[in-house]
Amino acid sequence: MKIVFAEPSVPRSGSLVVMVLDDRKLTPSAQRIDKITSGMLTRAMNASRFKGRKDDMLAVLAPSGLDVARIVLVGLGKPDAIDATAWQNAGGRVVAHLNSAGESAAQVEIEKIDGAKLSAVEAAAEFAYGARLRSYRFDKYRTKEKPEQKPSLATLTVAVNRPTDAKKNFADLDKVADAVFFTRDIVSEPANVIYPETLAERARELEELGVVVEILKPKDMKKLGMGALLGVGQGSEHAPRLLVMQWKGAPAAKDKRPVAFVGKGVTFDTGGISIKPAGGMEDMKWDMAGAGVVIGAMRALAGRKAKVNAVGIGGLVENMPSGTAQRPGDIVTSMSGQTIEVLNTDAEGRLVLADALWYCQDRFKPRFMVDLATLTGAIIVALGSEYAGMYSNDDNLAKQLAAAGDAVGEKLWRMPLHDTYDRMMNSDAADIKNISGSRDAGSITAAQFLKRFTNDVPWAHLDIAGTTWSKKDAPTTPKGATSFGVRLLDRLVADHYEE
Ligand code: BES
Ligand code: MN
Ligand code: ZN
Repeated sequence: MKIVFAEPSVPRSGSLVVMVLDDRKLTPSAQRIDKITSGMLTRAMNASRFKGRKDDMLAVLAPSGLDVARIVLVGLGKPDAIDATAWQNAGGRVVAHLNSAGESAAQVEIEKIDGAKLSAVEAAAEFAYGARLRSYRFDKYRTKEKPEQKPSLATLTVAVNRPTDAKKNFADLDKVADAVFFTRDIVSEPANVIYPETLAERARELEELGVVVEILKPKDMKKLGMGALLGVGQGSEHAPRLLVMQWKGAPAAKDKRPVAFVGKGVTFDTGGISIKPAGGMEDMKWDMAGAGVVIGAMRALAGRKAKVNAVGIGGLVENMPSGTAQRPGDIVTSMSGQTIEVLNTDAEGRLVLADALWYCQDRFKPRFMVDLATLTGAIIVALGSEYAGMYSNDDNLAKQLAAAGDAVGEKLWRMPLHDTYDRMMNSDAADIKNISGSRDAGSITAAQFLKRFTNDVPWAHLDIAGTTWSKKDAPTTPKGATSFGVRLLDRLVADHYEE
């Protein structure tokens, strides 16, 4: 789908999209169209349940007095509540509607709404951003689709005064959308295509944007003493990799320490010898989403040339059962020197992150570390798919993350850490065990495990198991890989850590 910005004009073909406020209040451009069509919009609204609320949409087909195929009325709700998200959602909904209607070209009229926060130029950019985000589709393996099964919308024209300014405003958002698509692509790929080696190779594409990419192999990790990460990967034909990305966007900064993001990149999680049940196991192709999001976030920062120094690390492994796989009861030594009793080989994400987090703080001395991981089923029991779980040893970082999440619609709910949970992870045989042995507080005990490998650096852990994959469409996120976290991390940096 192509998005163009243009001066307002009356289109002669395709669809025309206009905005309506709460209580069926037409915006000025909608009023003009209502006049040209001798009141068709007003009559259509009166003949329907369309009220102009924020989720309302109504299509008027084959209007008279105007050479367009349809006029789409989009509800924006009450003016004081129309923020960036509302504009994005409107854009996303319009794209979904026109794609299923078979429309190939559309023009949308954007203007300043009295009493709303955003200028017309900002609103146009946000609308376009939402439209683009919703237009994503992972269809490379569908070889037999008929044209009528494919999305139809080829061109979306955003009509606004000062279109060049709107286009400039859109440029950075467009880069973030590129990154979101990149993450959705790699998370959607099956595990026979994406495994540690190929995932690392995909990340190499970021070199084009100026990101320094290093890929550590097993022998490098052995030298570093990463027994926890290597143990998880030892049952697979596909050897582990440690992905290290650096974006140096603020070389002259006073404080040159980077911000750091660390992702769980389990390219497939069978559970290992503690094997998972067959039903639903295919979902575990997206157990690398934490790393996928870290790669996407680095791509967003580099894409829009963010003035920040940032490090992105991915612990990439495949968790398989085999004759060489690690066994329940094995004791491994992590890079930190701490020994770990592996009581359940399905609690593998924390083992991978233990070494990735330690390596990160040891090598880069970052301002903070945020890790993202599809870590526990327990966080899905607790929070479902609306909020991701957040754990942190730093109130300021937690606040900044929560605010960034609210701003971009990737919401975080802070969960507790406490000594009593920490003690549940003490092992009789080693320094720590990888499961508590009780089902209680399963997401919290996983976070407590990670905390022991942070060396008390400011840190937050986001358990994204419930938010990383969606079974239903949302306004700006088609069902499937959500890339939850890419926009959030980009926003965190934009709001607090750029020069
Ligand atoms: N990748 C899973 C967590 C998961 C489960 C993510 C379902 C998304 C959907 C993780 O590696 C895992 O298996 N966790 C176990 C931990 C348990 C053995 C302590 C879990 O949550 O059951
Ligand atoms: Mn597992
Ligand atoms: Zn896992």
